[in-house]
Parts: sequence; structure tokens; C-alpha cells
Amino acid sequence: MPDTVHVLNGPNLNLLGTREPEVYGRATLADVEAACRAACARHGVDLVFRQTNHEGELVTFLQEARGSVGVVLNAAAYTHTSVAVADAIKAVGLNVVEVHLSNVFAREAFRHHSYISPVARGVICGLGIDGYRLAIDALAGAAGGRAS
Ligand code: DQA
Repeated sequence: MPDTVHVLNGPNLNLLGTREPEVYGRATLADVEAACRAACARHGVDLVFRQTNHEGELVTFLQEARGSVGVVLNAAAYTHTSVAVADAIKAVGLNVVEVHLSNVFAREAFRHHSYISPVARGVICGLGIDGYRLAIDALAGAAGGRAS
């Protein structure tokens, strides 16, 4: 069975394309999924792509990613608020790359703190949807894989 990368998206990312396009761009979540699918196909890994507006569901998605090659996680606003999401990453021992479309450090101060960064393998922000592809390359590529 091929290895799997999980790409998990948090609240309001279902609205990509129409949500504050000056901040998040015009690409839709379907466009993000297509880019992730192409990247995973290049690496010969399967993709699980999910979005939720609910914190507990995001925790469940993370628990369900146990045993995968890794997780690309855009937890959206839960990045800045959720101890539960950070705990899930630690509990399951996941290889996580935290991704944000926007450069959170060029925005409001409350976006500068992340509960996820200390438990993530790496962080990519400000590169739009390319960030997802780069994260998949890191997790599934020659330099990534199952290394922790
Ligand atoms: C975001 C940045 C977060 O601060 C924000 O709450 C989001 C999206 C991003 O992708 O840039 O919803 O994670």
C-alpha cells in the first residue's frame, strides 16, 4: 500500500477564492487540492485532503493521520488558539509541516503566535498555494519521507 500524506485545512478555508482575495489570493480550495494531488502523484504517495470548520473535528482528522508519511496542516485561526490541536500532534507523533497562505508575521500581532510551530517539523508561510506543494515535497521527497 502506498504511503499517504494528509493535507488538513481549518476554518474558513472552504471560502478560499472569495475570502479576502487581497490577503489569500483567488485560488479556491479545489485548486489547492488539485495542486496537492499533482505533487503527491509526482512522489508516488496517496493524498487525503480534508477541511473542517470545527476544532474537535480537526483533532479527529489529526488522530486519523497516525501512521502517515506526514501532515500538511493549515489550521487557519486555530493555529493561534488551539492547545487541543497542538496536543493531538504530540499525542500521535505526527510529522507536520505547518502552512499558511499569507505571511502571518506581516499581519496583526495575534497571528504571530502559533501553538503548532513548536510541535511542527517546519513552517511555511506567505507563499500562497505553492506552500502546500513545498510542504509535500519536504514530507514525501528524498529529503523527507519518514525521517523525523
Ligand atoms: C491562515 C492565516 C491565519 O492567521 C488565518 O486565521 C487563516 C488563514 C493562512 O493560510 O494564511 O484563516 O492560516
